[in-house]
Amino acid sequence: MAHTGINVIEKITHNVYLLNIGDRNVLTTKSRYSPHYGERKFGEYREWMPSRSKLASMLLNYRIDIKPEWKCLYLGAASGTTVSHLSDILDRGVIYAVEYAAKPFTKLIELAEERKNVIPLLKDASKVEYYSGIVEKVDFLYQDVSQRNQVEIFLKNIEFFLKRKGEAVVMVKARSIDSTVEPEKVYRDVIKQLEKELKILKYDVLKHHRDHIFVHCLNI
Ligand SMILES: C[S@@+](CC[C@H](N)C(=O)[O-])C[C@H]1O[C@@H](n2cnc3c(N)ncnc32)[C@H](O)[C@@H]1O
Repeated sequence: MAHTGINVIEKITHNVYLLNIGDRNVLTTKSRYSPHYGERKFGEYREWMPSRSKLASMLLNYRIDIKPEWKCLYLGAASGTTVSHLSDILDRGVIYAVEYAAKPFTKLIELAEERKNVIPLLKDASKVEYYSGIVEKVDFLYQDVSQRNQVEIFLKNIEFFLKRKGEAVVMVKARSIDSTVEPEKVYRDVIKQLEKELKILKYDVLKHHRDHIFVHCLNI
């Protein structure tokens, strides 16, 4: 369907655009692929809803410069909702997409059949030795696993796979780590733990995801 009245408000990073369509603003990735999960397409732009993707939510409020040639390790890929948009961004790079649940993984395989820059791995992200022979050193590590020991998993993967000066983003879900204390206390403890190993570039709440923060780190 042809769409008239699409205006680019802002280029956020490579292939990520905030558009104005009709009377609303829509975050999108520029894509030559068809929709993956029922998202709308406006010409060559795929809608990227911040309520469905924590990375989209982060990018709307905090910009990071994701380079199209980056190699990425993605932990907690699920069925590939966010991976599909990251694949649009990293159109000269590669994404090693790790997921341990078989059901969403079948949909992730469909994505990888269409997109050559997605390598799906049915693996447990806490057992790096099972994929250390497959994944190379990466420029960017992204984690969204909502596990009690998610910081430990994140740091272990960084140690194995992230290049020096590489960037990493972790999505922290307070209730998954400890539902008995205030989220702010969980966040403080997470930051303290991360600071021992990494330089924290920024952390903040995710506006579209309750009791979550993102943390953007640099491997020093
Ligand atoms: C919140 S969902 C991820 C959503 C996805 N990142 C997106 O934005 O499209 C979390 C996923 O992490 C997976 N997961 C949790 N622990 C994991 C582990 N140790 N190894 C691999 N995957 C894990 C879960 O099976 C689930 O699919």
